[in-house]
Amino acid sequence: MGIIRSLKCIACGIETEPLPSAYVCPACGANCEVAYENPKVTRHSFGGKGIGRYLSLLPIESRDSLPPLPVGDTPLHRRDDIARELGIGGVWFKDDGRLPSSSFKDRASALVLARAIEFGFTEICTASTGNAAAASACLGASAGFHPWIFVPRSAPKGKIAQLVTFGARLFLVDGNYDSACDISLEASKRFGWYNRSTGYNPYTREGKKTVSFEILEEMDWNLPDWVVVPVGDGNIISGTAKGFRDAMQFGLIDKLPKLLAAQSERSSAISDAVNGDGIIRPVKASTIADSISVDLPRDGAAAVKAIRESNGRALTVSDEAILEAQAFLARRAGIFAEPAAACGVAALLKAAKEGIIAPDEKAVVLITGNGLKDVEAVTRRLPELPIVEPEISSVEKAIKFYR
Ligand SMILES: Cc1ncc(COP(=O)(O)O)c(C=O)c1O
Ligand SMILES: [Zn+2]
Repeated sequence: MGIIRSLKCIACGIETEPLPSAYVCPACGANCEVAYENPKVTRHSFGGKGIGRYLSLLPIESRDSLPPLPVGDTPLHRRDDIARELGIGGVWFKDDGRLPSSSFKDRASALVLARAIEFGFTEICTASTGNAAAASACLGASAGFHPWIFVPRSAPKGKIAQLVTFGARLFLVDGNYDSACDISLEASKRFGWYNRSTGYNPYTREGKKTVSFEILEEMDWNLPDWVVVPVGDGNIISGTAKGFRDAMQFGLIDKLPKLLAAQSERSSAISDAVNGDGIIRPVKASTIADSISVDLPRDGAAAVKAIRESNGRALTVSDEAILEAQAFLARRAGIFAEPAAACGVAALLKAAKEGIIAPDEKAVVLITGNGLKDVEAVTRRLPELPIVEPEISSVEKAIKFYR
């Protein structure tokens, strides 16, 4: 296991003991980050399968604490043809829609479950826009847990169906994601549940950072110039950054990739801060990309810091561009991404067009969630599709629809 030195506040730097009851900084209330004693690792240290193979860089004692469903090892698709078309040096899609509950959040939920088990908790809870909850419910079920869940009542049906079917104890909050976060904190204090909620729990980033280790291994330790990440709370991007930073601190790489944060224009709190004075201010979020629809990002300060430290950028795209990018990715690469995940692709297209990604630069795009989770985002907008009699003359008439 990684030897944890402390939980370090990302704002005031105070270091505290990683007790089961420790979440945010006791002095200033900001989020904490896990600090390790330097482990002895090399590029050849990581044997075995799944995120457990990075055990020496993770805050858990044993791989056996991880849920039985395998998490990690998602494919990294290299598409030189798309890179040429966009006029950049290389494009890879890291498809985390293939994880057990079909989103990137499985990385964090697996790790937090393991941490909860090692702490001795029997009950966990989380607030979520849907995916973190589905991940906790799915992996939890495989480990005998049925988490307490708070999601906005407007969450996509696919995600609610996952939650109910996995046996989560689900509360549909009559409010938005921000109110789900607030009530989950109150409930976990009242009922003694271990709280996995994004940002508040310092270990979600530690699960999320495994994506960076996988990218490095899959690219044979040739660093991409950019990693494109769709952003809501900012915890995936701060986790991805933590992975690259850990890899650098522990001598595995010698520089960091630039992070490109992708947000919807209709949920832009982190981009506003990165492109402004660095201070997070709440917005009134209302994007079709439900997973990144966040008024007040729960890991905003860490995200802004990570993007700036990497010399990266934050871009916003319209909801139209997100849906176009969803179709582009599906039609060109055969990957069906949910709208939040397609936001990263939209930002890639925009960054290539505007020359933010230079002609010789290579980009990895995180595909963070599967499109089947929110089919209504697509079906709501379908044109009238041809219905035919089971006769060839009817097909002959209808075929013009596609010509
Ligand atoms: C599919 C998907 N993409 C991106 C994000 C954004 O992650 P974060 O909220 O940590 O910025 C989420 C978070 O729910 C997600 O589910
Ligand atoms: Zn602090």
